[in-house]
Amino acid sequence: MIVDEKARIVALRQALHEHNYRYYVLNQPIVSDQEFDFMMHELQDLEARHPELADPNSPSVRVGSDLSQSFEQVEHRYPMLSLSNTYNEDEVRSWYESVEKGLGGAPFEVCCELKYDGLSISLTYEDGRLVRAVTRGDGVRGDDVTANVKTIRAIPLVLQQVEGRQKGQFPVPESFEIRGEILMPIKVFENLNKERELAGEQLFANPRNAASGTLKLQNSAVVASRKLDAYLYFLLGEKLPTDGHFENLEVARQWGFKVGEGMRKVRTLEEIYDFIHYWDVERRNLPVATDGIVLKVNSLRQQEQLGYTAKSPRWAIAYKFKAERVCTRLLSVSYQVGRTGAITPVANMEPVQLAGTTVKRATLNNEDFIRSFDLHIGDYVYVEKGGEIIPKIVGVDVSRREAGAQAVTFVARCPECGSGLVRYEGEAAHYCPNDAGCPPQIKGRIEHFIARKAMDIDSLGPETVDDYFQRGMIRNVADLYEIRVSDINQGGSREKSAQKIVQAIRESTKVPFERVLFALGIRFVGETSAKLLARHFKSIDALAAASMEELQQVEGVGEMIARSVMAYFESPVNREIISRLRGYGVQMQLSESAQQPQDNRLAGLNIVISGVFVHHSRDEYKEMIERYGGKNVSSISSKTSFVLAGSNMGPSKLEKAQQLGVEVVSEDEFLNRYFSESPSSVADDAESSSESRGEYVEGSLF
Ligand code: IVH
Repeated sequence: MIVDEKARIVALRQALHEHNYRYYVLNQPIVSDQEFDFMMHELQDLEARHPELADPNSPSVRVGSDLSQSFEQVEHRYPMLSLSNTYNEDEVRSWYESVEKGLGGAPFEVCCELKYDGLSISLTYEDGRLVRAVTRGDGVRGDDVTANVKTIRAIPLVLQQVEGRQKGQFPVPESFEIRGEILMPIKVFENLNKERELAGEQLFANPRNAASGTLKLQNSAVVASRKLDAYLYFLLGEKLPTDGHFENLEVARQWGFKVGEGMRKVRTLEEIYDFIHYWDVERRNLPVATDGIVLKVNSLRQQEQLGYTAKSPRWAIAYKFKAERVCTRLLSVSYQVGRTGAITPVANMEPVQLAGTTVKRATLNNEDFIRSFDLHIGDYVYVEKGGEIIPKIVGVDVSRREAGAQAVTFVARCPECGSGLVRYEGEAAHYCPNDAGCPPQIKGRIEHFIARKAMDIDSLGPETVDDYFQRGMIRNVADLYEIRVSDINQGGSREKSAQKIVQAIRESTKVPFERVLFALGIRFVGETSAKLLARHFKSIDALAAASMEELQQVEGVGEMIARSVMAYFESPVNREIISRLRGYGVQMQLSESAQQPQDNRLAGLNIVISGVFVHHSRDEYKEMIERYGGKNVSSISSKTSFVLAGSNMGPSKLEKAQQLGVEVVSEDEFLNRYFSESPSSVADDAESSSESRGEYVEGSLF
């Protein structure tokens, strides 16, 4: 049986690597998403039962883990240099001529490639397996982000040839590095920002920032859900297949890497210009952002001959596309009010065509931005759309300003409710302080309250919230719980949907306290800090009574969050809302089972948790251990009672456990051994963290 399961694990891993490659690199899947998921779940189940067969490069690592990681700094074996940039075709000619000269007139080829606008990464493979992924950092040392990079499906964990695919002409070297760019596809970026806007979170300025923010996340399960992509463009090592850069990348493609599509080998300057002109237009149809093209002398021998300056190779140059820029007129400035009361000034302009879309609005960020351009109404402004998807004003043609034009002055009062605006020390934004009475703030807070990751009242949406607000039915989140079917329906024909809404609101009273705390929308209290605060203080009353010092004692809670929590509970309006919510049955403390140990069945046990789990999240296991009197310890020592091991337990941990003779207990075995009388009640008791389990599952879906 065991032997069969082992063979099945090997077969599933190999098949999943292959399907992954077909889907993410070749774009030619041969199984449905459902079949893929089915196989992945089977593999996860088997791996959970056999932690001893853990493989750090199993396809199941793609789903990530909620193991918190701090990034280790690693020195690059070969420094990561940058390229010298030019925006100018004449400089491309100068570069070409300097290459001709440097090579003493010998013929040479140039490899033309797209310049991907993401985050550079260096991947090390040993024996055909990905062992390390390091960011550029300062070029000499970077962050080891291996766990996060493993969730990117375009990056092979195990190279094709090693797992027995058709043998290519060129064997995979024992050890080599390959470099490339990690990107967030534009569509994924747009959807992510939409979600963030709904949740009242700060938006990413462009796909590059989103990719880099994502790669630095502590939780690789969230990284997995962000659907990053990667293109590789530079092979390094002692024994590379051929002398040609282009040819080596073609070989790398055979090994399973995703190499940029547009790559072309040319000889003449004219061909280089053709390539530039073609992609300057065509790049708009690509799924990812590019900001130029890269020209590289193709022969490695010739590259060596040309050598390097202190900062960059002489054998390569980047030509950057000019961001498209147009001139149009500023008609007026309007002001938007966000959920937190932050005011964003927006330029309304005469509509103009820019990079394929009609543009009539651009963000002006804040008062300092407006001042820096000394903007006047009627000004002719230059608008650009570069790496940023949102157009921005980059200059003013002052010579065309009409006499008597009025300078733009930042509003002093909230455009929605008329309150005097405030600007906090050290912040660039203005705020409307009337959080209890300003309509977009009220509606924004209610939208945040009902969001999926908060109270998850999914039958309500922004339009319904706006409608109820207009009809005077809701003024704050507590009012939601007083809505009756007849209020919604008002004698109409919407009885069924009204019942559904009221039912969903009632159901939300079961949402656990930590999510309620997040739903309240206390400034700076995101999902993570809400969890930390809830676990530490256990009830809203204890939290409301906490002092600045007590708040800051919670790991991960700094002065800014502490101050905001204090301010929130000082407001009588907020206290009244909480008291009403409590009256309607909304959870205002951790459930009893989460608070008190029911028995001490794990007393005296020091348990290390490692890997990714199927039945409960890692945090749930931590809570369970503590609730039942055990101790969750972070590293394995001779005092460790056993390791509770999910799939993908780190190989160094496994080795250490074996060395010290510490028992490795699988998830199923743990549940059987200690909770066999009431396995279902274990699941019910554990503080629901459907969210972390949700992410876990999400990551395994396409
Ligand atoms: S080659 C020594 N090729 O642009 C040359 N770089 O300033 C190594 N980039 O840090 C880089 N697309 O992040 C190369 N096709 C491409 C590229 C590319 C984007 C980025 C890379 C590098 C920066 C150069």
